[in-house]
Amino acid sequence: MDLVLLGAPGAGKGTQGALLARKLHVPKIATGDMLRDAVRQGTELGRRAKQVMDAGQLVSDEIVLGLVRERLASDAAEGAVFDGYPRNVAQAESLDGLLGEMGRRINAVVYLEVDDDAIVRRMTGRRTDPETGVVYHVEHNPPPAEVADRVVQREDDREATVRHRLEVYRENTAPLVEHYRRAGVPVHTVDGGGSIDAVQGEILGLLGR
Ligand code: AP5
Repeated sequence: MDLVLLGAPGAGKGTQGALLARKLHVPKIATGDMLRDAVRQGTELGRRAKQVMDAGQLVSDEIVLGLVRERLASDAAEGAVFDGYPRNVAQAESLDGLLGEMGRRINAVVYLEVDDDAIVRRMTGRRTDPETGVVYHVEHNPPPAEVADRVVQREDDREATVRHRLEVYRENTAPLVEHYRRAGVPVHTVDGGGSIDAVQGEILGLLGR
């Protein structure tokens, strides 16, 4: 199954995507995670991406397409949960092309809706374990004592950058909901404001799992 998770920054795509990937037995392709890995490794691509990401802008379509193409040819040959990709109509069209070459297509879209104030609260409280990549929240999902000392806050999770990312999302990514509807792909709208378990339960119900 190929599933796209859509939603504003902080809507819970990464959190729900990790749970769904386990449930559906397919990998999660999260372009944000892949870009952050490249930044950590100090690759040429990571150096190019860092400034853009820290400013809350979108990295070029060409860079992101290269990353996704590699994953589809390796561990995502049977399906994937796409988290944070596609990010605009051009990326959606490229993804359709890549999947089409493999005789695949997007089977469903899950659109997570969360209001802006809740998003800002979530993102300013988000912490990530740099060793495992597991994402926590200081209140809703606190890191266990053994990792609490090493969790870090993302550079782009400061409030002003979060608000800018929301604008970038509205302009570039939100139109994908209509794009997929027009293409006849089932788009399941989910209230992402509930608890992590409640949101997961609703998604699985909508997907008939
Ligand atoms: P990316 O990493 O994709 O960030 P994003 O889409 O902005 O989304 P986030 O990861 O911030 O949020 P999320 O929806 O995954 O929420 P999460 O589950 O973590 O992209 C970062 C940057 O990389 C972009 O700005 C851009 O520069 C670049 N980039 C990436 N992909 C690109 C592309 N395709 N093209 C171009 N550029 C690209 O949850 C957030 C917090 O809330 C966590 O602390 C979590 O524990 C908590 N939480 C989650 N669910 C709940 C809940 N139900 N209740 C309470 N708390 C919750």
